[in-house]
Amino acid sequence: MQTRRLGRSDLEVGRIAYGCWRLAGGVDEARAKVETALDLGMTLIDTADIYGDRRPVGHGAAEELLGRVLAADRGLRDRMVLATKGGIVRGVPYDSSPGYLRDACEASLRRLGVDVIDLYQVHRPDLLAHPADVAATLLELRDAGKVRELGVSNYSPARHAALQRHLGDVALATTQPELSLLHLDPIDDGTLDGAMADDVTPLAWSPLAGGRIATGDAPPELVTRLDELAEREGASRAAVALAWVLAHPAGVIPIVGTQRLDRIADAATATSVHLSRTDWYALTAAAGRDLP
Ligand SMILES: NC(=O)c1ccc[n+]([C@@H]2O[C@H](COP(=O)([O-])OP(=O)(O)OC[C@H]3O[C@@H](n4cnc5c(N)ncnc54)[C@H](OP(=O)(O)O)[C@@H]3O)[C@@H](O)[C@H]2O)c1
Repeated sequence: MQTRRLGRSDLEVGRIAYGCWRLAGGVDEARAKVETALDLGMTLIDTADIYGDRRPVGHGAAEELLGRVLAADRGLRDRMVLATKGGIVRGVPYDSSPGYLRDACEASLRRLGVDVIDLYQVHRPDLLAHPADVAATLLELRDAGKVRELGVSNYSPARHAALQRHLGDVALATTQPELSLLHLDPIDDGTLDGAMADDVTPLAWSPLAGGRIATGDAPPELVTRLDELAEREGASRAAVALAWVLAHPAGVIPIVGTQRLDRIADAATATSVHLSRTDWYALTAAAGRDLP
């Protein structure tokens, strides 16, 4: 799989990433998913301290499971760029205060069983945290060698710019918005434009809209277009939808979240799907977006 650099950093990752929001099951099962992704070149593995939250096991469960996978095969850590996030707290709901972020990062390191997190992302903006304080905490974590690179998720372009201003020379490497054919806002709200202006790599979460695009729970015209292109390309509907994300000039990295090994493999085929300019605009229009 082709690779690309995360922002201006030295971290190089495959064009498609694997996400651990839904990661569940036993260690062997989870390890098979992570290994399958890595074998296919999906070298960015994205998780968060809050993942696992939707299951009875609670906060930290997905990181703990990934930590057990990494402990089961020590070689895996070196094959991946490990990304996690902090800043969501159930019932609060957001906390990016210095004390909280420091502790959250330490807890992630402990659960994952690693010395350093390659990409540490603020999961959601905390409206009560001044960007100067968030920046100071992130820089402290970086200076202490606990995290290598910094990113944000669900940040508006203005919030991204405010945080970047206080980070000075240390450039945010990534921004992680929700982006798919059923969630087109980042294309028009300045998120992808800002990323291109500043050499920040966008990571698209839920690139299949949590599966709705693959299962056809989408506008009928969009499903028809996707299926026509899938037939022409000899690919799946999901692969065409991921190819649409890949085609944007911002160099977006879709983070896929399937728990099925065959579907992880299918996602990787998206890099071979060729969408022309006409195809891309036709899909965007079929998704209901008025073109500028
Ligand atoms: N930053 C944030 O706030 C945020 C929020 C959400 C997610 N994320 C990140 O984004 C990652 C991906 O999110 P996601 O899991 O919602 O992504 P997704 O790839 O859009 O959706 C995956 C879901 O679609 C289902 N699906 C149905 N048919 C499929 C097919 N043909 N191919 C693939 N999947 C199919 C999967 O079920 P099966 O497992 O049965 O295949 C799975 O439940 C997460 O793991 C996380 O890293 C970040």
